[in-house]
Amino acid sequence: MRPYLRINMAMSADGKVATANRAAHTFGSPRDGRHLHELRAGADAIICGARTIEETGATLGNGGPRFDALRLRLGRQPRPVRVVVSGSASISPDAALWGDRSSPIVAWVGASAPRRRVEVLSRLADEIWMSPGDDIDVKAGLRWLAKTHHVRDALLEGGGFLNDAFFRAGVVDELHLTWCPLLMGGAKAPTAADGLGFASIAQAKRLRLDSIKRHGDELFLVYRSRRKQPRTAAVQGGCPPVS
Ligand SMILES: NC(=O)c1ccc[n+]([C@@H]2O[C@H](COP(=O)([O-])OP(=O)(O)OC[C@H]3O[C@@H](n4cnc5c(N)ncnc54)[C@H](OP(=O)(O)O)[C@@H]3O)[C@@H](O)[C@H]2O)c1
Repeated sequence: MRPYLRINMAMSADGKVATANRAAHTFGSPRDGRHLHELRAGADAIICGARTIEETGATLGNGGPRFDALRLRLGRQPRPVRVVVSGSASISPDAALWGDRSSPIVAWVGASAPRRRVEVLSRLADEIWMSPGDDIDVKAGLRWLAKTHHVRDALLEGGGFLNDAFFRAGVVDELHLTWCPLLMGGAKAPTAADGLGFASIAQAKRLRLDSIKRHGDELFLVYRSRRKQPRTAAVQGGCPPVS
């Protein structure tokens, strides 16, 4: 059984999640920041792609005592497992993530990743999970998290390249999008789902709009797939409502 999986992303009015030069990545309001930490508080595992970790300096932290308390109220493990996905083990040893040892860090790498890089990574991460095949098998990775770390709810925080692999594998149960009131433009600006994408509209992932809330000029949208929510998610364990 795999964990229930949410994705959370902030995007501009024109659908970008960073500027084309990838310099600007924080543009949501404080309310959006709170939403991110509420979702983290409900997750047993937080998953993120290598480029996002490097470029944003993300450590996937808990957000302070207020969110620690929420995590306890939601019945979650005190600290989530942090998962960085780096198929070719290329993630920089200088990433800020490695300096924060507040909870276990697992690296997902592909079976064909250069051995020397995997050795470097194994000194940085607490644990390595090696996926069968060249690309990361995200479904197998989720099952491994459930079995090895008892993960029931997982939060994926991008970027678009990694999100796409989860969408194509059909393992995304909820998509939280914060639609922010700015335009970024740029043909090469990253979006919430890049990578290979779907070849046709017939194959495209269909979503159901579950809720939409407005805070100031920001819209908070929650889409769901058709998978039944587990009891933990239904009581908003990993999904505090956008209030
Ligand atoms: N606004 C938001 O909410 C938000 C959120 C997150 C990120 N972002 C932005 O998004 C940008 C980064 O996104 P991105 O799409 O370029 O990169 P990404 O998805 O964060 O990371 C891509 C890397 O992750 C690994 N990876 C991802 N999927 C894989 C798979 N299926 N198999 C094997 N390895 C896989 C690969 O690492 P290797 O190269 O080691 O193989 C790949 O190069 C940044 O500019 C960031 O600011 C914005």
